[in-house]
Amino acid sequence: MSLWNRHKIFETNSIVLILGILVMIAIGGLVEIVPLYYLKSTIEKVDGVRPYSPLELAGRNIYVREGCYNCHSQMVRPLRDEVERYGHYSLAAESMYDRPFQWGSKRTGPDLARLGGKYSDEWHRAHLADPRSIVPGSIMPAYGWLAQTPLKADEIVQDMKVQKLLGVPYSDDMLVRAAADLRVQATTDDPEADALARRYPKAVIRDFDGDPTRITEADALIAYLQVLGTQVDFRLYDNKANVR
Ligand code: HEC
Repeated sequence: MSLWNRHKIFETNSIVLILGILVMIAIGGLVEIVPLYYLKSTIEKVDGVRPYSPLELAGRNIYVREGCYNCHSQMVRPLRDEVERYGHYSLAAESMYDRPFQWGSKRTGPDLARLGGKYSDEWHRAHLADPRSIVPGSIMPAYGWLAQTPLKADEIVQDMKVQKLLGVPYSDDMLVRAAADLRVQATTDDPEADALARRYPKAVIRDFDGDPTRITEADALIAYLQVLGTQVDFRLYDNKANVR
């Protein structure tokens, strides 16, 4: 019997074929996944990566609620065209506190992994309220109500507790101060700002939605958008990588 004929059993018996597929996928999966647990670049801790502040986390919840991930990925791949367009490729550590992660695979709009600091808050406000006022050909939906809707934040401590359960290292201090921290971050010139920045290094603290009298969903979402991809200082990271 030639080799060809022996293959016939797979082609004529669907159960054998399915078992064969399962065995092959299991081997392929092991070969791809197991090394990730040992490769330094996928398990290294990187300076600067910290849990989201309460306001950023609230903004992230809105991002997920509105399904922004249906059109936007958050992972710059290490390919030349991506790095030139978006900036430094994403490190695994940068999404270690993203639960669930927002990598995505759908890019109807651009990748947002390095969005923080790219535009002003004002730009984001105008763009969220009416994308076509900024980018005439845009097909992004308008999210005008975000700036009109007060942020419902009384559950933020619960959210943080769930994140902690999943492994995000929120301290007891952070949990106790969550509601206050959330308010402080959306306020310009608050005396508590320094303490907040110690708990959440490099947190951007200001009135994001242009209305200092209240905290809206736009405050939270823009705070989140402005922190994306800004936690790691890549001048330090790349230098360290070169030394090693
Ligand atoms: C139907 C798909 C779609 C959805 C849903 C969507 N976007 Fe977009 N987004 C786009 C497209 C297309 C662009 C590019 C044109 C533009 O800038 O408006 C874009 C651009 C952007 C930009 C500018 C990015 C850059 O680097 O220039 C931001 C920020 C953004 N979207 C945020 C959001 C947020 C936040 C949400 C959820 C509240 C969202 N988008 C939902 C399609 C979408």
